[in-house]
Formats: sequence, C-alpha cells, structure tokens
Amino acid sequence: MSLTGRTIILGVTGGIAAYKAAELCRLLVKAGADVRVAMTEAACRFVTPLTFQALSGKPVLTSLWADGSPDGMAHIQASRDADLILVAPASADFLARLAHGRADDLLATLCLARACPLAVAPAMNRAMWAAPATRRNLAQLAADGVHLLGPAAGEQACGEVGLGRMLEPAEILASLADRFGRGPLAGKRVLVTAGPTFEPIDPVRGLTNRSSGKMGYAVAAAAREAGAEVTLVSGSTCLPTPADVRRIDVETAAEMRAAVLAELPSDVFIAVAAVADYRPDAAAAHKLKKSEAGLKLDLVPNPDILAEVAARPDAPFCVGFAAETERLAEHAEAKRRRKKLPLLVGNLAQDTLGQDTAELVLFDDAGRHSLPRADKQTQARALIRHLATLLD
Ligand code: C5P
Repeated sequence: MSLTGRTIILGVTGGIAAYKAAELCRLLVKAGADVRVAMTEAACRFVTPLTFQALSGKPVLTSLWADGSPDGMAHIQASRDADLILVAPASADFLARLAHGRADDLLATLCLARACPLAVAPAMNRAMWAAPATRRNLAQLAADGVHLLGPAAGEQACGEVGLGRMLEPAEILASLADRFGRGPLAGKRVLVTAGPTFEPIDPVRGLTNRSSGKMGYAVAAAAREAGAEVTLVSGSTCLPTPADVRRIDVETAAEMRAAVLAELPSDVFIAVAAVADYRPDAAAAHKLKKSEAGLKLDLVPNPDILAEVAARPDAPFCVGFAAETERLAEHAEAKRRRKKLPLLVGNLAQDTLGQDTAELVLFDDAGRHSLPRADKQTQARALIRHLATLLD
C-alpha cells in the first residue's frame, strides 16, 4: 500500500502516547505521505512542535491565531487539501470535543471543516475509556463515519492494565493501509523474483551471479506499497523481507522455476533475479579433490523462467530486467522481443551491481523512458507507476 502523494494531517493531542506520534509521523513520511502535523496545546506540553517539524519537514500547525495566511483561513484550506486526517493519540477530551462538533482549537476546527475521512487512534486510561461519556462519544463518532483505530489492551503509563493504550505506530500504519491505501495495483497479484541463483558443483562449491537482491526487494516493496498482494521468490540475499510481502527462499534456478510456476496464475510477473544461465550437468555428491590437471565442468543451460512464463496461455503481464555491460538499448530491445515482454527494464551492470542507486531505462511498445540515477526504492516506485499505467 502506498501513501505516496497522499496528504495526511496528523493531529496530535495531549497524552503520554504523543511521543509515539513522532515515530508514526516518520513512518507516514517513509510510506510516501505528505504529512502536515497539527498539535493541540496539551500535546505541545508532551512533545515539542520542533520534533514534528523536523520529521515532517513542514511547520507545525498549533494555533488558530498564528497561521500567517493573508485571509486567516489556512485551517480551512489545510483541511480541504488533505486526503485524510488522522488523530493519534486521540485523548478522551479530544474525542468529546469531536463528538460535539467543537471548533475551539485549531485541530478541532480542522476536523470540523474537513472534506476527507477522519481516523482516530484513542489513547487514555482504561477507566476513562470505559466511562459512559466516552462510550457515548464513540458511538456518536462511529455514527458520524469516523474511523476508529484501536485502542489496544496492555500496560498503561499510569501503571494500570487494560484497554486504552494507543496502537503501535506500525499497527496504525497497517490499518490505514488497509482502509485508505487503495494503490494502483490494489487487488492484483504480483510475483517477483530477486537475488542470485546458486548452482552446486559439489557440496561446497557452486556457480552463481553477482546480485545483492536490492533491486528485486525494492520492486517487491513498491508493488506492495501500490496495493498489490506480493510474493517474492528469492535467491540467497542478506536483506530483510519487505513488510507485508510473502517470501519464498530458493537456491537453484530449478527451484526458482518450480516456486514461480507454483505461484501462477498471477496478474504480474517481474523477473528481477539474476538467474544463472548454466548449471553443472550433475553436482558431485562429495567434495571434489584439488588436482594439478585442472577441472573441466560440463554445463547445461538452465530453463529461462521468464521466457517460459511469458509464453504460457495464461501469461501474466511480464516484466524483465536486462543488465548489460555495453550497447544497452540494442541488447535490451532484442531481449524484449525474444522473450515477448511488454516491458523490459535495462541497466548497465557496472553502474548498478551491489549499489544502492541505479540508472534505468524502461523499454515498452511506446519506446524508451529513462529514469535518471536515484536510489533503488525510488526507481522501483517509478517502475511500478509506469507498469500500472500499462496495465490500465
Ligand atoms: O537473458 P537474460 O538472462 O539476460 O534475461 C534477463 C531477464 O530474464 C531477467 O528478467 C531475468 O530475471 C530473467 N531470466 C529468467 N530465467 C533465466 C534467465 C533470465 O527468468 N534462466
């Protein structure tokens, strides 16, 4: 799920959980959202606006009377520009004010003036949560269409244990994703291969390709951000599995092929893996002894997973990667035609291998599209956006 391009007002109210809102702000920004923070006066007593300004990169809204706009209507405008207002933590007092439609501070006014969904993540002592007044307010808010995220049960700052603790920032993000994150690939199944394959020569040696897996993992994460259900078939890498992505570990090209075929049908197949083109005809059962005579290996071609998937009658939308060392366009176009791919991503291997950045060229039926050097996550997001327009 992506929050890319989404404008979110993060409202912070007065409660000890306000410190967790700093982490939430960071996660929202990381998920691509344009975050504007609005704090109540009480929130500013727990965490300073400067913290949120640094995390969101924007001045924090704190007062109805100091917005500096020529017409004094910045709060209405901020509210109109937002795709979502998320109040986390939402104190018992703030929920009460919301339920009554009060506009007695900036955040309450933003909520009242909004033309977008409103989500609240309550945080309060368990007795306040259970109080009849809070129950009434929540029933009213639910009837008004306000989305309730949490709270969780557990140990509270006051030392008591019970319901009322704010959801963890990552849980809030996941809930938002499910409810508001309908990205361009929502409802699509995307299958990605990544990393190298390893073809054993004997129990301790093998043939492999240079591949860190960074690009493939970034593509899987970007597809997930775009709302797809993502399966990542991965050769050996040192990378953590991207959030909310299902990962299947494989070693050889044959295992990768079997894992990929078992995951079909899929809407999209993105082959980023550096699959070894050849494997030893038969791996030795025991470690080969070193010999002065040298060693000759009999290699047989590995199946071309991408070409095989693209040739199936139920072929998904197939995307290939081509790492070349010279004449990129010529080789990439030839590969695209040979494997019958609607989209191929070309790059110069010497510029990309193992690095955190890449310079890519997308080749499709309409021609070429260059993605100037940027970090691999940015490139992966651009690729997924391009792919989504082709799918349309
Ligand atoms: O032919 P070449 O190996 O250069 O093609 C690269 C593209 O094909 C990549 O997308 C790679 O993941 C895929 N491929 C594959 N199976 C192979 C070889 C390459 O899926 N055996």
